[in-house]
Amino acid sequence: MKITVFNGSPRGRISNSHIIINSLLEGAKEAGAATEEIFLIEKHIGYCVGCFDCWSKTPGECGINDDMKNMINKYLESDFVGLATPVYGMLMTALLKNFTDRMLPLATPHIHKNEDGSFYHEGRVRSFPRVFYIANSGFPGEHNFDLLKAYLEMQKPVFEVYRNCGEILQYPADDSSTLSNNIMQFKNSLKTAGIELVSNGQVSQDTVINIHKQIISDEEYMAGANKEWDEELKNNDKR
Ligand SMILES: Cc1cc2nc3c(=O)[nH]c(=O)nc-3n(C[C@H](O)[C@H](O)[C@H](O)COP(=O)(O)O)c2cc1C
Repeated sequence: MKITVFNGSPRGRISNSHIIINSLLEGAKEAGAATEEIFLIEKHIGYCVGCFDCWSKTPGECGINDDMKNMINKYLESDFVGLATPVYGMLMTALLKNFTDRMLPLATPHIHKNEDGSFYHEGRVRSFPRVFYIANSGFPGEHNFDLLKAYLEMQKPVFEVYRNCGEILQYPADDSSTLSNNIMQFKNSLKTAGIELVSNGQVSQDTVINIHKQIISDEEYMAGANKEWDEELKNNDKR
């Protein structure tokens, strides 16, 4: 089994998204899967120019010669694909959005109607990987994910992670504080999710609940973040 996660954070290897992906893939690897995390920021992926040549002149092939060809191959050779993003302006990053736009060659042009009245383009290949999503926000609370959830749930994912207070994951978590313990528990739950995904093809409700447990109170997170910014601004003398 192959699991590939496309990390859509512009912070790449130092991102909170990476911390989440790492724990999940650790579990998946332990359960026997071949795993890969791809940092989209390190790839050359131009914008979709909306020419539709991938539907007409060269069906299934994009005319832009960049890393996306390889990315599509990696996408299709996976059993599960994870798409990860920090919340940017209530939605996904431009990096991940562009990546999804460039998937257009995998669709066919004709429009079909779903029973619920929505419309779709049929896929060009016989089997697609099953997709899961990982999002993390800089704000505490749940409303940060409202818009993203509405979009992502339409894609019928096998599993979703919505981590608020994302910046807390940078906390070293190597002492015996409640905070460290909560971060460790979050990472362990992600690892369990990775194991379950490989072993059962889905993530149990218990694990989903554990992943979404509060790590830190809103007030504590706000106070810590505001203090850090105060110190940073003071050091830079830019207040
Ligand atoms: C341009 C920009 C827009 C952002 N918009 C939001 C937002 O709408 N809501 C939110 O909770 N956090 C927002 N954030 C904060 C990030 O989601 C947060 O820092 C996240 O933990 C970064 O994750 P990463 O390290 O995986 O990139 C924004 C950050 C940037 C740089």
